[in-house]
Amino acid sequence: MTLLNEAQATAATSLTPAAFAAAEAHSAHNYHPLEVVISHAEGAWVTDVDGRHCLDMLAGYSALNFGHGHPALLSAAREQLDKVTLTSRAFVHDQFAEFTARLAAMCGKDMVLPMNTGAEAVETAIKVARKWGYDVKGVPADQAEIIVMAGNFHGRTTTIVGFSDDADARDGFGPFAPGFVMVPYADLAAIEAAITPNTVAVLVEPIQGESGVVIPGDDFLIGLRELCTRENVLFAADEIQAGLGRTGYTFACDHAGVKPDMYILGKALGGGIVPVSAVVADRDVLGVIGPGQHGSTFGGNPLACAVGTAVIELLETGEFQARAEALGQVLRDRLLAMVGKGIVGFRSRGLWAGVDIDPAVGTGREICERLLARGVLAKDTHGSTIRLAPPLVIAEEDLHWALDQLEAAVSE
Ligand SMILES: Cc1ncc(COP(=O)(O)O)c(C=O)c1O
Repeated sequence: MTLLNEAQATAATSLTPAAFAAAEAHSAHNYHPLEVVISHAEGAWVTDVDGRHCLDMLAGYSALNFGHGHPALLSAAREQLDKVTLTSRAFVHDQFAEFTARLAAMCGKDMVLPMNTGAEAVETAIKVARKWGYDVKGVPADQAEIIVMAGNFHGRTTTIVGFSDDADARDGFGPFAPGFVMVPYADLAAIEAAITPNTVAVLVEPIQGESGVVIPGDDFLIGLRELCTRENVLFAADEIQAGLGRTGYTFACDHAGVKPDMYILGKALGGGIVPVSAVVADRDVLGVIGPGQHGSTFGGNPLACAVGTAVIELLETGEFQARAEALGQVLRDRLLAMVGKGIVGFRSRGLWAGVDIDPAVGTGREICERLLARGVLAKDTHGSTIRLAPPLVIAEEDLHWALDQLEAAVSE
């Protein structure tokens, strides 16, 4: 791929500035996108309106684990488009049983409650945990407490941002729902101290992606499992960004050999084609929800189920987990060699890294702008950190090329 030359050649006649301005003109400015307007994508590469190729090192925050336009996922979607796309859950459709049975089996659980976006799945887990607390644990009405972690990111609904400690996410959107207690991330002693007879769940990201790919020691998840079992509290793992192959395992919790009571899944479950999310748990937990108590018009629709089943089939091969592990080693080795040369540190697991940029060479945003000029799409988080999460289908030579660009971008 010739990137810079193409870009320079087209600079004078670039369609990007006008297309970018048009996209901003009538939309709420709730994002601050880099100046690139994508019109096509395949695998790990995207093409913009100027015909310029860029390597996608963000993969829709892990929603594109299988790359853009994976043939098996596209063909499952196309096939289903011609059959039936939406029934609502008022009626049963013929894709539902297979999707729910296979997802439950992949998680080693009994039941699935399908939704659409990640935030909806988190909301679902909160409702299930509270209902379980009242119906099963015997918590007095409206007294349920859920323990959450500092630095969390679970989505954008008012309930969820109400227990965020990120001022941008939270400030200006209150009043917020009560019933959440925040403790420092991965601090077992603090969690134990925060548990009361009314605690129904601990809600945790096994790796905090939005916070900069913050990785706790394995002993945290193991200890949390033991603590939750001992205290009769549900362990709810938000695997929306960390799960489904990204870390070299099907679930990030697998790295510690731990099974939560509730898996909260999203992003890659829809294969980058449709929003598909779910809460997966055993019958003694998910069984507390009865008709009329929760739902969504689009949750578990035929198109979502067909794509979701195709995603599960890809994960069942183990190929993507193995790629994440093998390429993750490449990523780690290359980043290690860059420490002290423009980056001050990094955290990585599988094909996922949070890279801390040396403030002397630029902000995270500035480095992402330099990367874009070099044909690499990446996203900063929290000022000086860049998140790298390429599609798991990325070729090893392309990964090396992207890291060459990062090396150059922090030396400019
Ligand atoms: C860990 C985690 N939970 C929940 C969400 C929310 O998902 P969605 O944007 O699909 O609502 C995200 C999104 O980035 C996430 O990373």
